[in-house]
Amino acid sequence: MKVKFADLKTQYLSLKSEIDSAVLGVIDELAFVGGKYPKKFEEEFKALYKVTECVSVANGTDAIYIALKMLGIGIGDEVITTASSWISTSETISQTGATPVFVDIDDYYTIDSNKIEAAITKKTKAIIPVHLYGQAADMDKIMKIASTYNLFVVEDCAQSHFSMLNGKYVGSFGNASTFSFYPGKNLGAYGDAGCILTNDNDLSNKCRMFANHGALKKHEHKIEGINSRLDGIQAAILSVKLPHLNSWNQKRNNNAMIYNSLLKDIDSVQIPKIRENSFHTFHLYVIRVKERNELVSYLNSKGVETAIHYPNPLPLLPAYAYLNTDPGLIPNSIKHHEEIISLPMYPELDSESISYVVNCIKEFYKSKLK
Ligand SMILES: Cc1ncc(COP(=O)(O)O)c(C=O)c1O
Repeated sequence: MKVKFADLKTQYLSLKSEIDSAVLGVIDELAFVGGKYPKKFEEEFKALYKVTECVSVANGTDAIYIALKMLGIGIGDEVITTASSWISTSETISQTGATPVFVDIDDYYTIDSNKIEAAITKKTKAIIPVHLYGQAADMDKIMKIASTYNLFVVEDCAQSHFSMLNGKYVGSFGNASTFSFYPGKNLGAYGDAGCILTNDNDLSNKCRMFANHGALKKHEHKIEGINSRLDGIQAAILSVKLPHLNSWNQKRNNNAMIYNSLLKDIDSVQIPKIRENSFHTFHLYVIRVKERNELVSYLNSKGVETAIHYPNPLPLLPAYAYLNTDPGLIPNSIKHHEEIISLPMYPELDSESISYVVNCIKEFYKSKLK
Protein backbone atom coordinates (compact mmCIF):
# COMPACT_ATOMS: atom_id res chain seq x y z
CA MET A 1 0.00 0.00 0.00
CA LYS A 2 1.14 3.57 -0.65
CA VAL A 3 0.31 6.34 1.81
CA LYS A 4 1.14 9.87 0.68
CA PHE A 5 2.34 12.46 3.13
CA ALA A 6 -0.20 14.98 1.86
CA ASP A 7 -2.76 14.95 -0.95
CA LEU A 8 -3.60 18.30 -2.52
CA LYS A 9 -5.03 16.68 -5.65
CA THR A 10 -7.98 14.97 -3.95
CA GLN A 11 -8.96 18.26 -2.31
CA TYR A 12 -8.72 20.09 -5.64
CA LEU A 13 -10.89 17.49 -7.38
CA SER A 14 -13.56 17.86 -4.68
CA LEU A 15 -13.87 21.59 -5.50
CA LYS A 16 -12.68 21.55 -9.11
CA SER A 17 -15.61 23.27 -10.82
CA GLU A 18 -15.75 26.10 -8.23
CA ILE A 19 -12.00 26.64 -8.26
CA ASP A 20 -11.71 26.52 -12.03
CA SER A 21 -14.50 29.04 -12.48
CA ALA A 22 -13.07 31.33 -9.76
CA VAL A 23 -9.67 31.34 -11.50
CA LEU A 24 -11.21 31.95 -14.94
CA GLY A 25 -13.34 34.76 -13.45
CA VAL A 26 -10.24 36.59 -12.20
CA ILE A 27 -8.53 36.23 -15.56
CA ASP A 28 -11.66 37.37 -17.39
CA GLU A 29 -11.81 40.51 -15.23
CA LEU A 30 -8.02 41.03 -15.42
CA ALA A 31 -8.15 41.45 -11.62
CA PHE A 32 -4.62 40.15 -11.17
CA VAL A 33 -3.07 42.09 -8.27
CA GLY A 34 -4.89 43.73 -5.37
CA GLY A 35 -8.48 44.83 -6.01
CA LYS A 36 -11.76 43.14 -5.28
CA TYR A 37 -10.72 39.51 -4.78
CA PRO A 38 -8.09 40.11 -2.05
CA LYS A 39 -10.52 42.59 -0.45
CA LYS A 40 -13.30 39.98 -0.44
CA PHE A 41 -11.02 37.35 1.11
CA GLU A 42 -9.79 39.82 3.76
CA GLU A 43 -13.39 40.57 4.77
CA GLU A 44 -14.30 36.88 4.96
CA PHE A 45 -11.19 35.84 6.89
CA LYS A 46 -11.32 38.59 9.49
CA ALA A 47 -15.07 38.06 10.05
CA LEU A 48 -14.53 34.38 10.85
CA TYR A 49 -11.60 35.27 13.09
CA LYS A 50 -13.63 37.97 14.86
CA VAL A 51 -10.91 40.61 14.47
CA THR A 52 -11.29 44.04 12.88
CA GLU A 53 -8.39 44.15 10.41
CA CYS A 54 -6.91 41.81 7.81
CA VAL A 55 -4.10 42.82 5.47
CA SER A 56 -3.43 40.33 2.70
CA VAL A 57 0.19 39.98 1.61
CA ALA A 58 2.30 37.87 -0.73
CA ASN A 59 3.30 35.12 1.74
CA GLY A 60 3.57 34.21 5.40
CA THR A 61 7.20 35.24 5.67
CA ASP A 62 6.48 38.78 4.49
CA ALA A 63 3.53 38.87 6.90
CA ILE A 64 5.90 38.47 9.87
CA TYR A 65 8.47 40.91 8.49
CA ILE A 66 5.87 43.58 7.73
CA ALA A 67 4.15 43.24 11.12
CA LEU A 68 7.45 43.47 13.04
CA LYS A 69 8.74 46.37 10.95
CA MET A 70 5.49 48.34 11.31
CA LEU A 71 5.53 47.77 15.08
CA GLY A 72 8.77 49.73 14.94
CA ILE A 73 11.16 46.85 15.57
CA GLY A 74 14.63 47.38 14.13
CA ILE A 75 18.36 47.73 14.71
CA GLY A 76 19.42 47.30 18.34
CA ASP A 77 16.25 45.47 19.35
CA GLU A 78 15.88 41.84 20.41
CA VAL A 79 12.91 39.63 19.63
CA ILE A 80 12.29 36.40 21.55
CA THR A 81 11.05 33.36 19.71
CA THR A 82 11.02 29.58 19.86
CA ALA A 83 14.05 27.46 19.03
CA SER A 84 11.78 25.11 17.07
CA SER A 85 10.17 26.56 13.96
CA TRP A 86 10.61 27.15 10.26
CA ILE A 87 13.32 29.74 9.55
CA SER A 88 10.78 32.37 8.42
CA THR A 89 10.00 33.05 12.07
CA SER A 90 13.54 34.14 12.84
CA GLU A 91 14.91 35.37 9.50
CA THR A 92 12.24 38.07 9.47
CA ILE A 93 13.45 39.29 12.87
CA SER A 94 16.93 39.70 11.37
CA GLN A 95 15.45 41.37 8.25
CA THR A 96 14.19 44.22 10.45
CA GLY A 97 17.72 44.69 11.81
CA ALA A 98 16.82 43.19 15.20
CA THR A 99 18.40 40.10 16.77
CA PRO A 100 16.53 36.83 17.34
CA VAL A 101 16.78 35.35 20.84
CA PHE A 102 15.83 31.69 20.95
CA VAL A 103 13.98 30.01 23.82
CA ASP A 104 13.55 26.26 24.40
CA ILE A 105 10.27 24.41 23.80
CA ASP A 106 7.83 22.84 26.26
CA ASP A 107 6.12 19.42 26.24
CA TYR A 108 3.72 20.72 23.59
CA TYR A 109 6.57 21.65 21.22
CA THR A 110 5.83 25.38 21.50
CA ILE A 111 7.92 28.09 23.21
CA ASP A 112 8.39 27.29 26.91
CA SER A 113 6.65 30.17 28.66
CA ASN A 114 8.57 29.36 31.87
CA LYS A 115 11.87 30.10 30.13
CA ILE A 116 10.89 33.38 28.45
CA GLU A 117 11.57 35.76 31.34
CA ALA A 118 15.20 34.62 31.63
CA ALA A 119 15.71 35.68 27.99
CA ILE A 120 14.33 39.21 28.43
CA THR A 121 16.85 42.07 28.39
CA LYS A 122 16.57 45.86 28.14
CA LYS A 123 16.68 45.43 24.36
CA THR A 124 13.74 43.00 24.13
CA LYS A 125 10.84 44.49 22.17
CA ALA A 126 8.64 41.56 21.19
CA ILE A 127 7.84 37.87 21.50
CA ILE A 128 6.88 35.69 18.55
CA PRO A 129 5.13 32.53 19.76
CA VAL A 130 4.63 29.96 17.00
CA HIS A 131 1.59 27.68 17.25
CA LEU A 132 3.68 24.88 15.81
CA TYR A 133 2.05 21.94 14.00
CA GLY A 134 -1.39 23.45 14.83
CA GLN A 135 -0.89 23.39 18.62
CA ALA A 136 -1.66 26.55 20.60
CA ALA A 137 1.29 28.07 22.49
CA ASP A 138 0.76 28.97 26.15
CA MET A 139 -0.82 32.32 25.26
CA ASP A 140 -2.26 33.26 28.66
CA LYS A 141 1.17 33.15 30.29
CA ILE A 142 2.87 34.75 27.27
CA MET A 143 0.41 37.66 27.24
CA LYS A 144 0.98 38.19 30.98
CA ILE A 145 4.75 38.33 30.49
CA ALA A 146 4.33 40.70 27.53
CA SER A 147 2.17 43.00 29.59
CA THR A 148 4.60 42.98 32.56
CA TYR A 149 7.60 43.84 30.38
CA ASN A 150 5.72 45.99 27.85
CA LEU A 151 6.51 43.80 24.87
CA PHE A 152 4.67 43.32 21.59
CA VAL A 153 3.36 39.87 20.73
CA VAL A 154 3.18 38.73 17.11
CA GLU A 155 1.66 35.25 16.81
CA ASP A 156 3.00 33.11 13.97
CA CYS A 157 -0.12 31.23 12.85
CA ALA A 158 1.30 29.80 9.62
CA GLN A 159 0.50 26.28 10.85
CA SER A 160 -2.53 26.96 13.03
CA HIS A 161 -5.46 28.47 11.14
CA PHE A 162 -8.42 28.46 13.57
CA SER A 163 -6.68 26.48 16.32
CA MET A 164 -8.18 27.47 19.67
CA LEU A 165 -7.15 28.05 23.26
CA ASN A 166 -9.66 28.62 26.06
CA GLY A 167 -12.44 29.19 23.55
CA LYS A 168 -10.50 31.83 21.58
CA TYR A 169 -8.78 31.50 18.21
CA VAL A 170 -5.00 31.61 18.33
CA GLY A 171 -4.06 34.66 16.32
CA SER A 172 -6.44 36.86 18.28
CA PHE A 173 -4.34 37.13 21.48
CA GLY A 174 -1.39 39.29 20.42
CA ASN A 175 -0.88 42.71 18.83
CA ALA A 176 -0.90 41.02 15.45
CA SER A 177 -0.86 37.55 13.97
CA THR A 178 0.53 36.29 10.72
CA PHE A 179 -0.66 33.55 8.38
CA SER A 180 0.76 31.57 5.50
CA PHE A 181 -1.48 30.15 2.80
CA TYR A 182 1.31 28.18 1.16
CA PRO A 183 -0.34 25.31 -0.79
CA GLY A 184 0.25 22.61 1.84
CA LYS A 185 -1.09 24.65 4.76
CA ASN A 186 -4.50 23.83 6.31
CA LEU A 187 -5.87 26.66 4.15
CA GLY A 188 -3.65 26.65 1.09
CA ALA A 189 -3.62 28.76 -2.06
CA TYR A 190 -2.21 27.54 -5.39
CA GLY A 191 0.94 29.58 -4.98
CA ASP A 192 2.33 31.82 -2.26
CA ALA A 193 -0.08 33.86 -0.13
CA GLY A 194 -0.35 35.24 3.40
CA CYS A 195 -2.01 37.78 5.65
CA ILE A 196 -1.75 39.77 8.87
CA LEU A 197 -4.61 40.01 11.37
CA THR A 198 -4.90 42.68 14.05
CA ASN A 199 -7.45 44.69 15.99
CA ASP A 200 -5.21 47.77 15.67
CA ASN A 201 -6.45 49.97 12.85
CA ASP A 202 -3.34 52.17 12.85
CA LEU A 203 -1.06 49.12 12.60
CA SER A 204 -3.10 47.62 9.78
CA ASN A 205 -2.93 50.88 7.79
CA LYS A 206 0.83 50.95 8.24
CA CYS A 207 1.16 47.30 7.17
CA ARG A 208 -1.03 47.84 4.11
CA MET A 209 1.00 50.89 3.14
CA PHE A 210 4.39 49.23 3.65
CA ALA A 211 3.30 46.15 1.68
CA ASN A 212 2.30 48.38 -1.24
CA HIS A 213 5.48 50.44 -1.82
CA GLY A 214 4.64 52.75 1.06
CA ALA A 215 1.44 54.03 -0.55
CA LEU A 216 -2.21 53.59 0.39
CA LYS A 217 -3.15 55.54 -2.75
CA LYS A 218 -1.38 55.24 -6.07
CA HIS A 219 1.70 57.51 -6.30
CA GLU A 220 1.25 58.81 -2.74
CA HIS A 221 4.34 57.17 -1.24
CA LYS A 222 4.42 58.26 2.39
CA ILE A 223 7.32 55.93 3.13
CA GLU A 224 9.50 53.47 1.25
CA GLY A 225 7.97 50.03 1.36
CA ILE A 226 8.11 46.69 -0.38
CA ASN A 227 5.98 44.90 -2.96
CA SER A 228 4.06 42.23 -1.07
CA ARG A 229 0.48 41.97 -2.29
CA LEU A 230 -1.87 39.04 -2.61
CA ASP A 231 -2.78 38.32 -6.21
CA GLY A 232 -6.37 37.99 -7.37
CA ILE A 233 -6.16 34.36 -8.45
CA GLN A 234 -4.83 33.23 -5.06
CA ALA A 235 -7.45 35.30 -3.23
CA ALA A 236 -10.31 33.88 -5.30
CA ILE A 237 -9.08 30.31 -4.62
CA LEU A 238 -8.80 31.05 -0.89
CA SER A 239 -12.39 32.37 -0.88
CA VAL A 240 -13.62 29.12 -2.44
CA LYS A 241 -11.74 27.01 0.10
CA LEU A 242 -12.38 29.05 3.27
CA PRO A 243 -15.95 27.76 3.94
CA HIS A 244 -14.54 24.19 4.03
CA LEU A 245 -11.72 24.89 6.46
CA ASN A 246 -13.63 24.09 9.65
CA SER A 247 -14.59 20.66 8.40
CA TRP A 248 -11.07 20.01 7.08
CA ASN A 249 -9.60 20.98 10.47
CA GLN A 250 -12.07 18.71 12.24
CA LYS A 251 -11.10 15.82 9.95
CA ARG A 252 -7.41 16.41 10.66
CA ASN A 253 -8.17 16.41 14.38
CA ASN A 254 -10.22 13.18 14.03
CA ASN A 255 -7.37 11.55 12.14
CA ALA A 256 -4.95 12.58 14.87
CA MET A 257 -7.23 11.00 17.48
CA ILE A 258 -7.24 7.73 15.48
CA TYR A 259 -3.43 7.81 15.28
CA ASN A 260 -3.21 8.57 19.01
CA SER A 261 -5.51 5.72 20.00
CA LEU A 262 -3.70 3.20 17.80
CA LEU A 263 -0.18 4.34 18.75
CA LYS A 264 -0.61 4.95 22.46
CA ASP A 265 0.27 1.40 23.50
CA ILE A 266 3.57 1.31 21.65
CA ASP A 267 6.05 2.17 24.40
CA SER A 268 8.75 3.35 22.01
CA VAL A 269 6.49 5.95 20.35
CA GLN A 270 5.77 9.30 21.94
CA ILE A 271 2.43 10.60 20.64
CA PRO A 272 1.69 14.35 20.58
CA LYS A 273 0.38 15.79 23.85
CA ILE A 274 -2.49 18.21 23.43
CA ARG A 275 -2.67 21.38 25.52
CA GLU A 276 -5.63 21.52 27.89
CA ASN A 277 -8.65 23.55 26.76
CA SER A 278 -7.37 23.78 23.23
CA PHE A 279 -8.36 22.69 19.75
CA HIS A 280 -5.33 21.38 17.84
CA THR A 281 -5.73 21.65 14.06
CA PHE A 282 -2.94 19.16 13.29
CA HIS A 283 -1.30 20.83 10.35
CA LEU A 284 1.27 18.13 11.11
CA TYR A 285 1.01 14.92 13.10
CA VAL A 286 4.42 14.51 14.73
CA ILE A 287 5.57 11.51 16.76
CA ARG A 288 8.90 11.08 18.53
CA VAL A 289 11.00 7.91 18.55
CA LYS A 290 14.60 7.16 19.50
CA GLU A 291 15.20 5.10 16.33
CA ARG A 292 14.09 7.95 14.05
CA ASN A 293 16.23 7.39 10.96
CA GLU A 294 15.74 3.62 10.99
CA LEU A 295 11.97 3.97 11.29
CA VAL A 296 11.85 6.57 8.49
CA SER A 297 13.68 4.14 6.16
CA TYR A 298 11.43 1.27 7.20
CA LEU A 299 8.24 3.26 6.56
CA ASN A 300 9.64 4.43 3.26
CA SER A 301 10.29 0.79 2.24
CA LYS A 302 6.63 0.04 3.06
CA GLY A 303 5.31 2.87 0.86
CA VAL A 304 4.62 5.33 3.69
CA GLU A 305 5.80 8.88 3.02
CA THR A 306 7.09 10.83 6.03
CA ALA A 307 8.86 14.14 6.60
CA ILE A 308 10.88 15.88 9.31
CA HIS A 309 9.75 19.28 10.53
CA TYR A 310 12.49 20.27 10.98
CA PRO A 311 15.89 18.55 11.03
CA ASN A 312 17.52 21.18 13.29
CA PRO A 313 16.63 23.64 16.03
CA LEU A 314 16.92 27.15 14.55
CA PRO A 315 19.86 28.30 16.73
CA LEU A 316 21.95 25.33 15.56
CA LEU A 317 21.58 26.21 11.88
CA PRO A 318 24.73 27.64 10.26
CA ALA A 319 22.76 30.86 9.67
CA TYR A 320 22.73 31.46 13.44
CA ALA A 321 26.22 30.26 14.33
CA TYR A 322 27.12 33.92 14.92
CA LEU A 323 24.72 34.05 17.88
CA ASN A 324 26.63 31.30 19.73
CA THR A 325 23.46 30.12 21.47
CA ASP A 326 24.38 27.86 24.42
CA PRO A 327 22.99 24.37 23.57
CA GLY A 328 22.50 23.93 27.34
CA LEU A 329 19.68 26.48 27.11
CA ILE A 330 17.69 24.49 24.53
CA PRO A 331 17.89 20.82 25.61
CA ASN A 332 14.24 20.00 24.83
CA SER A 333 14.48 21.49 21.39
CA ILE A 334 17.69 19.59 20.56
CA LYS A 335 16.16 16.26 21.62
CA HIS A 336 12.95 17.04 19.76
CA HIS A 337 14.66 17.55 16.42
CA GLU A 338 16.64 14.31 16.81
CA GLU A 339 13.50 12.23 17.39
CA ILE A 340 10.65 13.66 15.31
CA ILE A 341 8.82 12.12 12.38
CA SER A 342 5.82 13.76 10.70
CA LEU A 343 3.40 11.02 9.63
CA PRO A 344 0.92 11.37 6.75
CA MET A 345 -1.79 13.88 7.70
CA TYR A 346 -4.51 15.52 5.64
CA PRO A 347 -8.30 15.76 5.90
CA GLU A 348 -8.95 13.14 3.23
CA LEU A 349 -6.62 10.54 4.82
CA ASP A 350 -8.77 7.48 5.54
CA SER A 351 -8.70 5.26 8.63
CA GLU A 352 -7.50 2.28 6.57
CA SER A 353 -4.36 4.19 5.61
CA ILE A 354 -3.81 5.29 9.21
CA SER A 355 -4.12 1.66 10.39
CA TYR A 356 -1.63 0.61 7.73
CA VAL A 357 0.89 3.25 8.89
CA VAL A 358 0.47 2.19 12.52
CA ASN A 359 0.78 -1.51 11.66
CA CYS A 360 4.03 -0.79 9.82
CA ILE A 361 5.33 0.98 12.96
CA LYS A 362 4.28 -2.03 15.08
CA GLU A 363 6.01 -4.44 12.66
CA PHE A 364 9.16 -2.33 12.84
CA TYR A 365 9.31 -2.60 16.63
CA LYS A 366 8.45 -6.32 16.57
CA SER A 367 11.33 -6.97 14.17
CA LYS A 368 13.65 -5.10 16.53
CA LEU A 369 12.75 -7.46 19.39
CA LYS A 370 13.73 -10.53 17.37
C1 LIG B 1 5.90 28.46 11.27
C2 LIG B 1 5.98 29.12 9.92
N1 LIG B 1 6.15 30.46 9.88
C3 LIG B 1 6.20 31.11 8.71
C4 LIG B 1 6.10 30.46 7.51
C5 LIG B 1 6.27 31.21 6.24
O1 LIG B 1 5.21 31.14 5.34
P1 LIG B 1 5.43 31.26 3.77
O2 LIG B 1 6.00 30.00 3.27
O3 LIG B 1 4.05 31.54 3.25
O4 LIG B 1 6.34 32.42 3.53
C6 LIG B 1 5.91 29.07 7.50
C7 LIG B 1 5.81 28.32 6.23
O5 LIG B 1 6.15 27.19 6.10
C8 LIG B 1 5.87 28.38 8.74
O6 LIG B 1 5.69 27.05 8.81
